[in-house]
Amino acid sequence: MNIFSSEKKFIENQSITDSILNDFKVTLDIKREDQIHKHVSGNKFRKLKYNLLEAKKLGYTTVLTFGGAYSNHIAATAAAGEILGLRTIGIIRGEELAKDLQKTLSENDTLYHASTSGMHLKFISRETYREKTSSVFITQLKKEFGACYIIPEGGTNSLAIKGCEEILTSQDKNYDIICCAVGTGGTIAGIINSIDSHQKVIGFPALKGRFLTDEIKKYTSKTNWKLIEDYHFGGYGKINREGIEFINKFNDQQHIGLDPVYTGKMIFGIFDLIQKGVFKKNTRILAVHTGGLQGIAGMNKKLKKKKLPLITIR
Ligand SMILES: Cc1ncc(COP(=O)(O)O)c(C=O)c1O
Repeated sequence: MNIFSSEKKFIENQSITDSILNDFKVTLDIKREDQIHKHVSGNKFRKLKYNLLEAKKLGYTTVLTFGGAYSNHIAATAAAGEILGLRTIGIIRGEELAKDLQKTLSENDTLYHASTSGMHLKFISRETYREKTSSVFITQLKKEFGACYIIPEGGTNSLAIKGCEEILTSQDKNYDIICCAVGTGGTIAGIINSIDSHQKVIGFPALKGRFLTDEIKKYTSKTNWKLIEDYHFGGYGKINREGIEFINKFNDQQHIGLDPVYTGKMIFGIFDLIQKGVFKKNTRILAVHTGGLQGIAGMNKKLKKKKLPLITIR
Protein backbone atom coordinates (compact mmCIF):
# COMPACT_ATOMS: atom_id res chain seq x y z
CA MET A 1 0.00 0.00 0.00
CA ASN A 2 1.30 3.43 -0.87
CA ILE A 3 -0.39 6.23 1.00
CA PHE A 4 1.36 8.81 -1.16
CA SER A 5 0.74 7.50 -4.67
CA SER A 6 -2.94 8.31 -5.06
CA GLU A 7 -4.29 11.84 -4.85
CA LYS A 8 -5.24 12.81 -1.32
CA LYS A 9 -8.99 12.91 -0.93
CA PHE A 10 -10.25 16.48 -0.85
CA ILE A 11 -10.99 17.70 2.67
CA GLU A 12 -13.09 20.84 2.77
CA ASN A 13 -11.86 23.76 4.87
CA GLN A 14 -13.82 24.14 8.09
CA SER A 15 -15.40 27.52 8.85
CA ILE A 16 -15.14 28.77 12.41
CA THR A 17 -18.16 30.38 14.03
CA ASP A 18 -17.33 32.73 16.89
CA SER A 19 -18.71 36.05 18.08
CA ILE A 20 -15.19 37.56 18.00
CA LEU A 21 -15.08 36.95 14.24
CA ASN A 22 -18.49 38.62 13.84
CA ASP A 23 -17.50 41.57 16.02
CA PHE A 24 -14.33 42.23 14.00
CA LYS A 25 -15.93 41.29 10.65
CA VAL A 26 -13.31 38.77 9.59
CA THR A 27 -13.68 35.11 8.63
CA LEU A 28 -11.51 32.23 9.78
CA ASP A 29 -11.39 28.80 8.13
CA ILE A 30 -9.21 25.87 9.12
CA LYS A 31 -7.48 23.66 6.57
CA ARG A 32 -7.88 20.21 8.14
CA GLU A 33 -4.56 18.72 7.14
CA ASP A 34 -4.75 16.85 10.44
CA GLN A 35 -7.43 14.66 8.86
CA ILE A 36 -5.33 13.37 5.96
CA HIS A 37 -4.38 10.10 7.68
CA LYS A 38 -4.61 8.69 11.21
CA HIS A 39 -0.85 8.42 11.75
CA VAL A 40 0.78 10.29 8.85
CA SER A 41 -1.06 13.58 8.94
CA GLY A 42 -0.63 17.32 8.61
CA ASN A 43 2.69 18.67 7.45
CA LYS A 44 4.31 15.29 8.17
CA PHE A 45 2.37 13.74 5.30
CA ARG A 46 3.51 16.58 3.04
CA LYS A 47 7.15 16.48 4.14
CA LEU A 48 7.48 12.71 3.96
CA LYS A 49 5.68 12.22 0.65
CA TYR A 50 8.45 13.06 -1.83
CA ASN A 51 11.22 11.93 0.53
CA LEU A 52 9.85 8.43 0.93
CA LEU A 53 8.95 8.15 -2.75
CA GLU A 54 12.55 9.17 -3.52
CA ALA A 55 13.94 6.64 -1.03
CA LYS A 56 11.92 3.91 -2.74
CA LYS A 57 12.90 5.10 -6.23
CA LEU A 58 16.59 5.03 -5.30
CA GLY A 59 16.19 1.49 -3.99
CA TYR A 60 16.74 2.22 -0.30
CA THR A 61 15.13 -0.19 2.15
CA THR A 62 16.02 1.82 5.26
CA VAL A 63 15.17 5.39 6.25
CA LEU A 64 17.00 7.07 9.11
CA THR A 65 15.94 10.27 10.81
CA PHE A 66 16.34 12.34 13.97
CA GLY A 67 14.06 13.74 16.66
CA GLY A 68 13.22 14.42 20.27
CA ALA A 69 11.32 12.03 22.51
CA TYR A 70 7.91 13.52 21.65
CA SER A 71 8.60 14.29 17.98
CA ASN A 72 5.66 14.29 15.56
CA HIS A 73 8.18 13.66 12.79
CA ILE A 74 9.51 10.50 14.47
CA ALA A 75 5.95 9.22 15.02
CA ALA A 76 4.94 9.86 11.39
CA THR A 77 8.13 8.45 9.88
CA ALA A 78 7.73 5.24 11.85
CA ALA A 79 4.10 4.88 10.77
CA ALA A 80 4.79 5.71 7.10
CA GLY A 81 7.78 3.36 7.03
CA GLU A 82 5.64 0.51 8.32
CA ILE A 83 2.96 1.17 5.70
CA LEU A 84 5.49 1.40 2.86
CA GLY A 85 7.59 -1.56 3.99
CA LEU A 86 10.66 0.52 4.76
CA ARG A 87 12.89 -0.20 7.76
CA THR A 88 13.06 2.93 9.93
CA ILE A 89 15.76 4.08 12.34
CA GLY A 90 15.09 6.91 14.78
CA ILE A 91 18.05 8.71 16.33
CA ILE A 92 16.55 10.08 19.52
CA ARG A 93 17.90 12.92 21.65
CA GLY A 94 18.51 11.85 25.28
CA GLU A 95 20.69 8.84 26.12
CA GLU A 96 19.13 8.63 29.61
CA LEU A 97 15.98 7.28 27.93
CA ALA A 98 17.84 4.09 26.98
CA LYS A 99 18.75 3.18 30.57
CA ASP A 100 15.41 1.53 31.19
CA LEU A 101 13.87 1.16 27.75
CA GLN A 102 10.76 -0.68 28.93
CA LYS A 103 10.01 2.14 31.39
CA THR A 104 10.66 4.77 28.69
CA LEU A 105 8.32 3.03 26.28
CA SER A 106 5.64 2.56 28.91
CA GLU A 107 5.77 6.27 29.78
CA ASN A 108 6.21 7.78 26.32
CA ASP A 109 3.39 7.23 23.81
CA THR A 110 5.34 8.68 20.88
CA LEU A 111 8.29 6.33 21.32
CA TYR A 112 6.02 3.40 22.17
CA HIS A 113 4.07 3.76 18.93
CA ALA A 114 7.25 4.38 16.91
CA SER A 115 8.76 1.23 18.37
CA THR A 116 5.66 -0.91 17.82
CA SER A 117 5.56 0.38 14.22
CA GLY A 118 8.96 -1.25 13.82
CA MET A 119 11.24 1.77 14.21
CA HIS A 120 14.62 0.96 15.68
CA LEU A 121 15.39 3.59 18.31
CA LYS A 122 18.95 4.69 19.00
CA PHE A 123 19.29 7.07 21.94
CA ILE A 124 22.19 9.49 21.97
CA SER A 125 23.38 12.24 24.29
CA ARG A 126 22.35 15.84 23.71
CA GLU A 127 25.97 16.62 22.93
CA THR A 128 26.21 13.98 20.19
CA TYR A 129 22.78 14.98 18.92
CA ARG A 130 24.14 18.43 18.11
CA GLU A 131 26.37 16.67 15.54
CA LYS A 132 23.33 15.38 13.63
CA THR A 133 24.25 17.13 10.40
CA SER A 134 28.03 16.58 10.55
CA SER A 135 29.44 14.33 7.84
CA VAL A 136 31.59 12.44 10.37
CA PHE A 137 28.55 11.50 12.43
CA ILE A 138 26.48 10.60 9.37
CA THR A 139 29.27 8.35 8.06
CA GLN A 140 29.38 6.65 11.46
CA LEU A 141 25.61 6.06 11.35
CA LYS A 142 25.84 4.60 7.84
CA LYS A 143 28.57 2.24 9.02
CA GLU A 144 26.35 1.13 11.89
CA PHE A 145 23.07 0.76 9.95
CA GLY A 146 24.18 0.22 6.35
CA ALA A 147 22.93 2.20 3.36
CA CYS A 148 20.08 4.42 4.42
CA TYR A 149 18.08 7.35 3.12
CA ILE A 150 18.59 10.16 5.62
CA ILE A 151 15.89 12.69 6.46
CA PRO A 152 16.93 15.61 8.69
CA GLU A 153 15.36 16.49 12.03
CA GLY A 154 11.82 17.85 11.58
CA GLY A 155 11.85 16.43 8.05
CA THR A 156 12.76 19.71 6.37
CA ASN A 157 14.67 19.53 3.09
CA SER A 158 13.94 20.56 -0.49
CA LEU A 159 11.70 17.53 -1.16
CA ALA A 160 9.74 18.35 1.99
CA ILE A 161 9.21 21.90 0.73
CA LYS A 162 7.99 20.48 -2.58
CA GLY A 163 5.40 18.45 -0.63
CA CYS A 164 4.34 21.48 1.41
CA GLU A 165 3.77 23.42 -1.82
CA GLU A 166 0.79 21.06 -2.30
CA ILE A 167 -0.99 22.09 0.93
CA LEU A 168 -2.97 24.90 -0.69
CA THR A 169 -5.41 24.16 -3.50
CA SER A 170 -6.79 26.41 -6.23
CA GLN A 171 -9.87 27.07 -4.03
CA ASP A 172 -7.58 28.62 -1.42
CA LYS A 173 -6.76 31.56 -3.71
CA ASN A 174 -9.85 33.26 -2.19
CA TYR A 175 -8.14 33.84 1.14
CA ASP A 176 -6.24 37.02 1.97
CA ILE A 177 -4.11 35.63 4.79
CA ILE A 178 -2.74 32.11 5.28
CA CYS A 179 -1.53 31.25 8.79
CA CYS A 180 0.83 28.47 9.73
CA ALA A 181 2.75 27.28 12.81
CA VAL A 182 6.53 27.34 12.43
CA GLY A 183 9.18 24.98 13.83
CA THR A 184 12.05 24.56 11.37
CA GLY A 185 10.42 26.78 8.71
CA GLY A 186 9.95 24.13 6.02
CA THR A 187 6.17 24.05 6.00
CA ILE A 188 5.73 27.79 5.80
CA ALA A 189 8.34 27.99 3.01
CA GLY A 190 6.28 25.57 0.90
CA ILE A 191 3.11 27.54 1.58
CA ILE A 192 4.82 30.84 0.70
CA ASN A 193 6.06 29.36 -2.58
CA SER A 194 2.52 28.38 -3.55
CA ILE A 195 0.55 31.57 -2.79
CA ASP A 196 -0.56 34.28 -5.21
CA SER A 197 0.78 37.83 -5.03
CA HIS A 198 -2.47 39.16 -3.49
CA GLN A 199 -2.07 36.77 -0.55
CA LYS A 200 0.13 36.96 2.52
CA VAL A 201 1.42 34.26 4.88
CA ILE A 202 1.77 34.80 8.62
CA GLY A 203 3.93 32.33 10.54
CA PHE A 204 3.64 31.71 14.27
CA PRO A 205 6.95 30.31 15.61
CA ALA A 206 6.51 27.66 18.30
CA LEU A 207 9.92 28.48 19.74
CA LYS A 208 12.07 31.46 20.66
CA GLY A 209 14.83 32.62 18.36
CA ARG A 210 15.40 35.03 15.53
CA PHE A 211 17.16 32.50 13.27
CA LEU A 212 13.93 31.29 11.62
CA THR A 213 13.64 34.13 9.13
CA ASP A 214 17.00 33.17 7.60
CA GLU A 215 16.03 29.49 7.57
CA ILE A 216 12.84 30.26 5.64
CA LYS A 217 14.72 32.47 3.19
CA LYS A 218 16.87 29.44 2.26
CA TYR A 219 13.76 27.89 0.68
CA THR A 220 11.87 30.86 -0.74
CA SER A 221 12.69 34.10 -2.51
CA LYS A 222 9.17 35.51 -2.11
CA THR A 223 8.58 38.36 0.33
CA ASN A 224 4.84 38.39 1.05
CA TRP A 225 5.16 36.77 4.46
CA LYS A 226 6.10 37.58 8.01
CA LEU A 227 6.62 35.89 11.36
CA ILE A 228 4.85 37.01 14.52
CA GLU A 229 7.02 35.97 17.40
CA ASP A 230 4.70 36.84 20.30
CA TYR A 231 2.97 33.50 20.76
CA HIS A 232 5.64 30.90 21.61
CA PHE A 233 4.50 30.81 25.28
CA GLY A 234 8.08 30.86 26.58
CA GLY A 235 9.66 28.44 24.11
CA TYR A 236 9.47 25.08 22.41
CA GLY A 237 7.12 22.64 24.15
CA LYS A 238 6.09 25.25 26.73
CA ILE A 239 2.48 26.17 27.43
CA ASN A 240 0.62 27.80 30.32
CA ARG A 241 -2.83 27.61 31.88
CA GLU A 242 -4.23 30.29 29.55
CA GLY A 243 -3.00 28.38 26.48
CA ILE A 244 -4.41 25.07 27.73
CA GLU A 245 -7.77 26.61 28.57
CA PHE A 246 -7.91 28.20 25.11
CA ILE A 247 -7.18 24.85 23.41
CA ASN A 248 -9.85 23.07 25.48
CA LYS A 249 -12.47 25.77 24.85
CA PHE A 250 -11.73 25.72 21.12
CA ASN A 251 -12.11 21.95 21.09
CA ASP A 252 -15.42 22.18 22.99
CA GLN A 253 -16.86 24.88 20.73
CA GLN A 254 -15.44 23.99 17.31
CA HIS A 255 -14.80 20.25 17.70
CA ILE A 256 -11.26 20.72 16.45
CA GLY A 257 -8.38 19.37 18.53
CA LEU A 258 -5.27 21.56 18.65
CA ASP A 259 -1.86 20.53 19.90
CA PRO A 260 -0.12 22.60 22.57
CA VAL A 261 3.25 22.74 20.77
CA TYR A 262 2.26 24.19 17.39
CA THR A 263 -1.34 24.66 16.25
CA GLY A 264 -2.74 25.67 19.66
CA LYS A 265 -0.27 28.55 19.85
CA MET A 266 -1.07 29.61 16.27
CA ILE A 267 -4.86 29.71 16.75
CA PHE A 268 -4.43 31.50 20.09
CA GLY A 269 -2.27 34.06 18.27
CA ILE A 270 -4.79 34.51 15.44
CA PHE A 271 -7.64 35.25 17.87
CA ASP A 272 -5.44 37.64 19.83
CA LEU A 273 -4.47 39.54 16.66
CA ILE A 274 -8.11 39.69 15.55
CA GLN A 275 -9.10 41.19 18.90
CA LYS A 276 -6.30 43.72 18.63
CA GLY A 277 -7.83 44.85 15.33
CA VAL A 278 -4.80 43.86 13.26
CA PHE A 279 -6.90 42.53 10.36
CA LYS A 280 -9.03 44.92 8.38
CA LYS A 281 -12.75 44.39 7.83
CA ASN A 282 -13.67 41.48 5.52
CA THR A 283 -10.24 39.83 5.76
CA ARG A 284 -10.52 36.14 4.92
CA ILE A 285 -8.08 34.10 7.00
CA LEU A 286 -7.12 30.47 6.43
CA ALA A 287 -5.21 28.68 9.21
CA VAL A 288 -3.44 25.45 8.27
CA HIS A 289 -3.93 22.68 10.83
CA THR A 290 -0.60 20.88 10.59
CA GLY A 291 -1.57 17.95 12.84
CA GLY A 292 0.59 16.97 15.81
CA LEU A 293 -2.21 15.61 17.96
CA GLN A 294 -0.21 12.47 18.76
CA GLY A 295 1.92 14.56 21.13
CA ILE A 296 -0.96 15.47 23.44
CA ALA A 297 -0.75 12.28 25.51
CA GLY A 298 2.92 12.96 26.30
CA MET A 299 2.25 16.60 27.05
CA ASN A 300 -0.57 15.69 29.42
CA LYS A 301 1.82 13.58 31.50
CA LYS A 302 4.07 16.63 31.88
CA LEU A 303 1.11 18.91 32.67
CA LYS A 304 -0.11 16.50 35.35
CA LYS A 305 3.28 16.65 37.09
CA LYS A 306 3.10 20.47 36.98
CA LYS A 307 -0.46 20.33 38.39
CA LEU A 308 -1.78 22.19 35.33
CA PRO A 309 -5.09 21.33 33.64
CA LEU A 310 -4.89 18.56 31.02
CA ILE A 311 -5.65 18.96 27.35
CA THR A 312 -8.90 17.24 26.50
CA ILE A 313 -8.85 14.84 23.59
CA ARG A 314 -12.17 14.07 21.94
C1 LIG B 1 2.17 19.74 14.11
C2 LIG B 1 3.26 20.58 13.57
N1 LIG B 1 2.95 21.78 13.07
C3 LIG B 1 3.89 22.61 12.57
C4 LIG B 1 5.21 22.25 12.56
C5 LIG B 1 6.21 23.20 12.00
O1 LIG B 1 6.71 22.75 10.81
P1 LIG B 1 8.13 23.20 10.29
O2 LIG B 1 9.16 22.48 11.12
O3 LIG B 1 8.16 22.78 8.88
O4 LIG B 1 8.22 24.67 10.49
C6 LIG B 1 5.60 20.99 13.06
C7 LIG B 1 7.00 20.58 13.06
O5 LIG B 1 7.46 19.92 12.23
C8 LIG B 1 4.60 20.14 13.57
O6 LIG B 1 4.90 18.93 14.06
